[in-house]
Amino acid sequence: MKKIIVAIDGFSSCGKSTMAKELAKSVGYAYVDSGAMYRAVTLYCQRKGWIVNGVVNQDELKKAIDSILIEFSYNPDKNRNETFLNKENVEDEIRTLQVSEEVSIVSSIGFVRSAMVKQQQAYAKERGVVMDGRDIGTVVFPDAELKIFLVASAEIRAQRRYDELIAKGEKVSFDEILENVKQRDFLDQTRKESPLRKAEDAIELDNGNLTLEEQRDWLLKRFKEVVE
Ligand code: DC
Repeated sequence: MKKIIVAIDGFSSCGKSTMAKELAKSVGYAYVDSGAMYRAVTLYCQRKGWIVNGVVNQDELKKAIDSILIEFSYNPDKNRNETFLNKENVEDEIRTLQVSEEVSIVSSIGFVRSAMVKQQQAYAKERGVVMDGRDIGTVVFPDAELKIFLVASAEIRAQRRYDELIAKGEKVSFDEILENVKQRDFLDQTRKESPLRKAEDAIELDNGNLTLEEQRDWLLKRFKEVVE
């Protein structure tokens, strides 16, 4: 069976990573969460104190960008993929609201994107990869054999994010999350560098009213149509 690249793009908190992870697991592909990479760079900047009032110290970041190494490793105890920033496990820290609030600013910087795209392309040299993000089907792998574009309403996505953060014990309000989701949609779609848009050859799926099982079955069917 031929090995392909599956690109899953869409708005924040659409459930892209859940779908991507499940597909990767069931077909034995690697899974790459490209959003985690931008989150890790954001955390790196925050720790250095390079983001002040929403403005990134681009001079310092530019000097450091090629030394920021982001890797993924599967943790069997927690049954999840974890993100490593220069060998340190930062999986929990990159998911906080503090990082979410500044990730759009960092991910809109051109040289940050080219450095991450280079790392993303290197992960898929042999194909056999499911990658999710915003520009995977348009910029990172315009030649991906299967491209999915996921959508769902801002309210549904905010509710999912809210439930996740509350379950982790974070103190957040629904309105604050909804505001963050809307703000990120706006920034992701209007930024100059690789804005979020549907690739012409992508298949759109609105998963707002679908169960996880329905989404899984739908995606597996699309995958089989391409590889078989
Ligand atoms: O998917 P996520 O919410 O973890 O992504 C975090 C941020 O990174 C999001 O605001 C948009 C950005 N991003 C991007 O610009 N390009 C990607 N390929 C993936 C994420």
